[in-house]
Amino acid sequence: MVDHYDKQVVLITGCSTGGIGHALARAFAAQNCLVVATARSLASISDLENDPRFFLQELDVLSDQIVHRVVSNVLEKFGRIDVVVNNAGVQCIGPLAEVPLSSIERTFNTNVFGSLRLIQAVVPHMISRKKGKIVNVGSVTALGPGPWAGAYTSSKAALHALTDTLRLELQPFGIEVITVVPGAVKSNIGNSAIGSYSQMPEWKLYKQFEEAIRARAYFSQGQKATRAEEFAQKTVNHVLKKNPPAWFSAGQYSTIMAIMYHLPLSIKDFILRRAMKC
Ligand SMILES: NC(=O)c1ccc[n+]([C@@H]2O[C@H](COP(=O)([O-])OP(=O)(O)OC[C@H]3O[C@@H](n4cnc5c(N)ncnc54)[C@H](OP(=O)(O)O)[C@@H]3O)[C@@H](O)[C@H]2O)c1
Repeated sequence: MVDHYDKQVVLITGCSTGGIGHALARAFAAQNCLVVATARSLASISDLENDPRFFLQELDVLSDQIVHRVVSNVLEKFGRIDVVVNNAGVQCIGPLAEVPLSSIERTFNTNVFGSLRLIQAVVPHMISRKKGKIVNVGSVTALGPGPWAGAYTSSKAALHALTDTLRLELQPFGIEVITVVPGAVKSNIGNSAIGSYSQMPEWKLYKQFEEAIRARAYFSQGQKATRAEEFAQKTVNHVLKKNPPAWFSAGQYSTIMAIMYHLPLSIKDFILRRAMKC
């Protein structure tokens, strides 16, 4: 067992190069943490391979078996897990009336049940130490759910709600639970979203909105989107604080969406209809 008691052991899901998870992995490592960087495929994190600050593991959050195996590998190697970051997530673009239920299920399976799966696997260990932090990566879209990404937005809203409940339920055991809420941050999310979108059936009812729907895939990836490194550094500074506040939001649109959350629905709908050409 590797013994570096001065260092926090941080396990992060979805660390593929170019995404927020990868930037988080680097930012935690820069703050003297031992980082368990995980991804569905080790090939997507190969650039971290020869750096002793990282322990690389293949992890698909859809698999019970893999999640439990990774948690026990980490406990065997380091003896503890101090911080878990549920970062892995998938977009899902399309009008709710027509998106196949299988795509919506996949979105919830990854974004909601995938996060919960890892939480359930790691909580017994954290409770045994009366210590730990769980960080769930939500989204500002859940603060103002607009058209064309309803499956994704509702999965993130569910994750926000789960996180609030977990914070209360885990507090008696000394575990802190934090919602991290990115605004628009440069990553692979647009390309991944368009990849899944290309497999959707042709819209029967929403043909005339096709262009606006497709554009939703890249909405967070405009010129002014926040760099993942900048977002990650702020997030890590927040998470590593002693008693960090339970909600942390940063990135382009994070302030606008925080205001949007409090607007009357009629105004919210007006803004979102115009922004998303619905
Ligand atoms: N970028 C933004 O503007 C933005 C805004 C709000 C919230 N977020 C959230 O931030 C998180 C990171 O997203 P990102 O923007 O960095 O997107 P990204 O570049 O597409 O990264 C998503 C990561 O999740 C991984 N993933 C997907 N399904 C998985 C599974 N079943 N098991 C394990 N890993 C899986 C992906 O792996 P592969 O590489 O193998 O696909 C990738 O590593 C997500 O939860 C996303 O919803 C992002």
